Amino acid sequence: MAAFHRTILSTTRIAGTVSRLRCIACGATPDSASQDFRCTTCGDLLEFFFPGWTSDSPALDPAALKSLWLTRRTSREALDQSGVWRFRELLPHIPVEDAITLCEGNTPIYHLPRCARATGVESLQAKHQGVNPTASFKDTGMTFAASSAHQGKFRWVACASTGNTSASMAAYAARGNMHSLVLIPDGKISWGKLSQSLDYGALTCQLRTDFDGCVRILNDLVRRKPVYLLNSVNPYRIEGQKTAAIELMEQLAWEPPDHIIVPGGNLGNSSAIGKALLEMRELELITRLPKLSIIQAQGANPFYRSVREFGGKKLQPMTADTLATAIRIGNPASWKKALHVLQATGGEVEEVTEVEIAAAKAEIGAEGIGCEPASAVTLAGLKKLRRSGFVKAGESVVLILTGHLLKDPDFTIKFHRGDLFTGTPDETEAARAKYLQRAPVVLDADLGAVIAALDAAER
Ligand code: F0G
Repeated sequence: MAAFHRTILSTTRIAGTVSRLRCIACGATPDSASQDFRCTTCGDLLEFFFPGWTSDSPALDPAALKSLWLTRRTSREALDQSGVWRFRELLPHIPVEDAITLCEGNTPIYHLPRCARATGVESLQAKHQGVNPTASFKDTGMTFAASSAHQGKFRWVACASTGNTSASMAAYAARGNMHSLVLIPDGKISWGKLSQSLDYGALTCQLRTDFDGCVRILNDLVRRKPVYLLNSVNPYRIEGQKTAAIELMEQLAWEPPDHIIVPGGNLGNSSAIGKALLEMRELELITRLPKLSIIQAQGANPFYRSVREFGGKKLQPMTADTLATAIRIGNPASWKKALHVLQATGGEVEEVTEVEIAAAKAEIGAEGIGCEPASAVTLAGLKKLRRSGFVKAGESVVLILTGHLLKDPDFTIKFHRGDLFTGTPDETEAARAKYLQRAPVVLDADLGAVIAALDAAER
């Protein structure tokens, strides 16, 4: 079948600045992208850049931008209320009539005083991207990329996913009257995420493979069918996800923390947050860079190994395995982008064990903040970065929590019941996290029994 051709992206103009595409490897600057968003010269990833950005551009005066973004928070316009579109001066242009928004972004930051004490840092906060419309950080990129699909008049959008991208894509496609095709690994994603994609009306295909296998099929599919690819190789996704870092800096009164810590799976999110930090410094919205560190699960650690074993010179794909199914990824697409921001900000890469993830999740939960396992790698990673001395006691740290607790209640219930690691090689190590478990107590419907339970808990 002939390859399907359509110009998806073109050079655009906004507020005196121009956004263009550039290949991250060979530097080619195509006027449009092909269906798979790969450079037609060398096959690597594309990114947006803004050649019109100069410090003497009045449209980009840092003080004026900060004040404009703040004013928009009181506006009744849907695009101003979105925590993504509110920052549209730092994004490529998409016509307003194509914008699909669910009022995404606007996520809270929380202090974690007990986790701070336990890890020995003075200031520890979490930005909870799980408090988005579909309960994960994916919505910030999806609002923007789904809108670009709408602009391109696509009927179908598609993604391969470990569950959160698909939930988000299905919702935004439905809101924009587009059909969505989801490819997910059979049996390897949580029920919460699968149920979202079903309810939002996606054609949901559970493939007998892993996430990396789903990506391979999808890449072949988009070359043959007119479907718009919504994985994070799509540079619009990265642009939308940048806003989490912009919003964070605004929440911190434009005083960057010393460290930002993110989970690493396909490595789109770390790339996006790092890109935003570098751009904000270029535009003098911030005057110094936080160190951006990336944490992977030990069983899904190709990026950690790339940096530690090969100095970032190559990435060896692996068969990934972790109970943090969101980041069960062995061949991350955006590893070169992530490497660039890791090096540019002076961040570090770490790996954490399954038990460390489960314990960290329960510790965050005990502060009244629920996140999914993949998010908890951040706290587990911080502990290691404290032990290695990379993060110092007096420094300020922000963890990016990427998904909500209710995305994967199965994991949480098994952990608290003490079943999570039964029969696995981690059973012995898991005993160390027992003090964090709070199994439900089944009692007779009897006042005395409840009082006895209360008294026992008090002791
Ligand atoms: N945390 C959660 C909750 C995720 O769902 C993902 C990725 C990540 C972290 C890692 O982010 O891939 O940008 O490095 N989930 C994708 C998905 C792969 O299909 O939902 P990343």
